[in-house]
Amino acid sequence: MTTHSRRDFLVQAAHVAALGTAGLSGVSAFATPRPQIFAAGAAGKPIPYGAAVRADALTSDMSYREAVVANCQIIVPEGEMKWPDIHPARGEYRFEKADALMDFARQNQIEVRGHTLAWYGGMPAWTATIDSPAEAERELVDHIETVVSRYRGTIPSWDVVNEPLVDWPDGPASLRPSIWTRQLGPNYLPIALRATAAVDPDAQLVLNEYDIEYRGPRFAARRKALLQLLRSLRDRDVPLHAVGLQAHLFASRAIDRDALQDFLREVTALKLDVLITELDVIDYEFPGKISERDAMVAGLAGQFLEAVCDVVRPKAILTWGLSDRYTWVPTYFKRPDGKPNRPLPLDADLKRKPLFDVIEEYRRKVV
Ligand code: G3I
Repeated sequence: MTTHSRRDFLVQAAHVAALGTAGLSGVSAFATPRPQIFAAGAAGKPIPYGAAVRADALTSDMSYREAVVANCQIIVPEGEMKWPDIHPARGEYRFEKADALMDFARQNQIEVRGHTLAWYGGMPAWTATIDSPAEAERELVDHIETVVSRYRGTIPSWDVVNEPLVDWPDGPASLRPSIWTRQLGPNYLPIALRATAAVDPDAQLVLNEYDIEYRGPRFAARRKALLQLLRSLRDRDVPLHAVGLQAHLFASRAIDRDALQDFLREVTALKLDVLITELDVIDYEFPGKISERDAMVAGLAGQFLEAVCDVVRPKAILTWGLSDRYTWVPTYFKRPDGKPNRPLPLDADLKRKPLFDVIEEYRRKVV
């Protein structure tokens, strides 16, 4: 008699379900209500705020660690739960960094978002050797089963699918090439979402995207393709609960308030929640004078937050980093004048900036 492991069951369940059968119970899996995900976001309280954090800095930099404890109700690992850190080789899982972050969060009563399970980006070299649909599905479901079950009950919200669209999509099928699309096509999304729901039915499943906020044909195409993708997941009764707006804002781009609000109304009509997951302001095109630049950074973020919060109450607002001391922005967007970027709520000396005040204003505006 062949014995079937739990993993085999999950692979089969994800596969069968990805074929589009309705939920076994007959109750729709798509957008099942999640009245409250974060304890910090209980009714009557401000929108919970959090930030992406780095495990090494939390260990080595006590003033940064204290600033995270003092300001963050939620944290999200900037890299420690991505494949390179947690699944560096075939069949090998390394949880030390992620576990250290979870311990820090537990010791300081901070909640944790998981980031990310299915992405094109930053994949370890070994995944390029995955060379069949069956192997791709097995590895993706195994990863999800291993990682999500380890933190079941302690991570209430996961970025299950991150950045599924190409930069300028001409439809929902314009998925960004990855090992998952190469082997599984668009089916990788239902497979990942169903596998996550099968492991942790209480987790909030999030599809996380960037460049949704602005005026212009590329951004209109992204909003349209994302809505079509969300509707295709609904039509196949794929479990999904929220859209994550990364909100990496650029000085050179105008927020398209009307189009963003129309998009958010459509997301709400699908009964999906909204999170702001990676807010920062990429300031390399702003003036060099700090007081002027900080005011413009806060102004742009304020425009975005006003547009969003006028239509929907985000389940959380997270910035992609807490302090300018640790930010990804100069990796790609160094300032021509050579001055340090200032994209985040606290400066490199952990002092509050106008951006901090703007976030506080909108956190408290829509209680
Ligand atoms: O840990 C290794 C280190 O051992 C090695 O010596 C070094 C040099 O190669 O690389 C280190 O890994 C780097 C990792 O950050 C940790 O610092 C990777 O090269 C680097 O690519 C990685 O960049 C991260 C990027 O995602 C890719 O995972 C950024 O810090 C992180 O801010 C960025 O975050 C993304 C979100 O996940 C999705 N949304 C966009 C956002 C910004 O790009």
